[in-house]
Amino acid sequence: MGKRSFDQGDGEEYARLQKVIARAGLASRRAAEELISAGRVSINGSVVRELGVKVGAHDRIAVDGRPLGNFAAPIYILLYKPTRVVTTVRDPYGRRTVIDCVTPVSARVFPVGRLDYDTSGALLLTNDGELAHQLMHPRFAVNKTYEAVVSGRISMDALARLEQGVPLDGRLTAPARAEFKGTDGYSSRIVLTIHEGRNRQVRRMCEAVGHPCKKLVRTHYASLGLYGLKPGQWRYLTEQEAHRLKAMV
Ligand code: URA
Repeated sequence: MGKRSFDQGDGEEYARLQKVIARAGLASRRAAEELISAGRVSINGSVVRELGVKVGAHDRIAVDGRPLGNFAAPIYILLYKPTRVVTTVRDPYGRRTVIDCVTPVSARVFPVGRLDYDTSGALLLTNDGELAHQLMHPRFAVNKTYEAVVSGRISMDALARLEQGVPLDGRLTAPARAEFKGTDGYSSRIVLTIHEGRNRQVRRMCEAVGHPCKKLVRTHYASLGLYGLKPGQWRYLTEQEAHRLKAMV
């Protein structure tokens, strides 16, 4: 199949095959290139191995014979994840998932990173596999801000340790920002901004400095805050917000 140019003179938008596959959430762009080179991708029934091919909305793309669906327009959703909801697409135990929270969205979106069952807050969902992959990559160090209620009266020393790094799994956490917001003597409220994404990281960090977490809310994912949303509610990102996320990576 010959190379196509962006402008085919028919007013249709064309994009590189690997980008379309990545956008559909099937693979990163690099992995999509490997699928193409391996002869696993077809356009309109013909296998393509070239990486420069461009496709339009009318093209039928299949990977391993499975149709990719139409040129899915990228969708970006900010969900205020409630507690007692799992951050997966499907749950073998039948629990409510973050996908259940965003019905009636029919596009196949998936969560970018995860929040624990008992953590609420800002969660991005998208069908743009490439952006999701990049946002989760440690290289881009996306900031995540959490408001935590922790046990006891937290000391300035404990806050400094949270900021400088605490050992988790034999490795110090990266420098973070920890702010004291108040205490009633029994518990304290802190705001913690981290850019790593280790498993249950905030809870484990708080525990490591002697103040187990009682409640955890992610208030911001990158520059996206929860303003105007209540737990369980969601909204589409504005074009400007989506652009800003893409510019970060
Ligand atoms: N850190 C945690 O401990 N839990 C989350 O859900 C997110 C970050």
